[in-house]
Amino acid sequence: MQLQVDGVRLACEVVGTGDWPWVVFVHGFPFSRATWQREAQALAASYRVLTFDLRGLGESELGPAPQPLESYVDDLFALMDGLGIDRAALVGLSMGGYISLRAVQRAEERFWALALCDTRAEADSDEGKLGRAAGIRLLHAGGREEFLRGFLPKLLKRPESDTGRWLMDLMRANAPLAMANALAAMQGRTETTAALATFTLPTLVVVGRDDTLTPLPLAQGMAQRIPGAELAILEDAGHVANLEAPAAFDRALGGFLARVAPR
Ligand code: MLT
Repeated sequence: MQLQVDGVRLACEVVGTGDWPWVVFVHGFPFSRATWQREAQALAASYRVLTFDLRGLGESELGPAPQPLESYVDDLFALMDGLGIDRAALVGLSMGGYISLRAVQRAEERFWALALCDTRAEADSDEGKLGRAAGIRLLHAGGREEFLRGFLPKLLKRPESDTGRWLMDLMRANAPLAMANALAAMQGRTETTAALATFTLPTLVVVGRDDTLTPLPLAQGMAQRIPGAELAILEDAGHVANLEAPAAFDRALGGFLARVAPR
């Protein structure tokens, strides 16, 4: 399905029917909604599930660039409005987590639960910002393949696996300009650490034990700051923990949602 949001065509997919509670998934960088396909199918027996492609990625248009992270958050709310989703559980991985954190900070009442997966509330350090700047320059200089080859080992514990090859192909389908825009958006995002103590949603923090991009201590810090938050540490998984430890991820997320869902 395609939805026009602010003059930009965004690709999305809904599975599940009836008046079951909504779950909305937000993918990481530079992926597409395909990275949530398995989870969406697994939850479709008990929930209505929305997955979508962030602007510029997957099958969504970028629209005018540059776009800050706030525009990606606007898109999430616009899609929810367009599909008549009053309240949803929000599940965001990595960049999807940055978007989710801001969405909850802006309008917590639109959600009934929050799952923050392999993400962080801290803004980029200066070193992180310079890394983004190097990535943006490389992408603009025709270095998409080089950028992705350098990035894949940070995403997965086992980059040489079938999952690694699948993810690499998925990332290669994204346009360099859209990837550069997303990097700049992450580089300019705000810090949400101080807001965590004010969150009142049931929250699950998920992290791969071997995540090097948003490592365990950051996840532990987030879980400690959010009142009542649960923490699930997935063994033998890196940054994209839902792809590397799918069964454990589904157990953690499915169990959490079942416990807190409004029925
Ligand atoms: C992601 O997986 O969305 C990104 O790697 C996050 C980041 O680079 O900060």
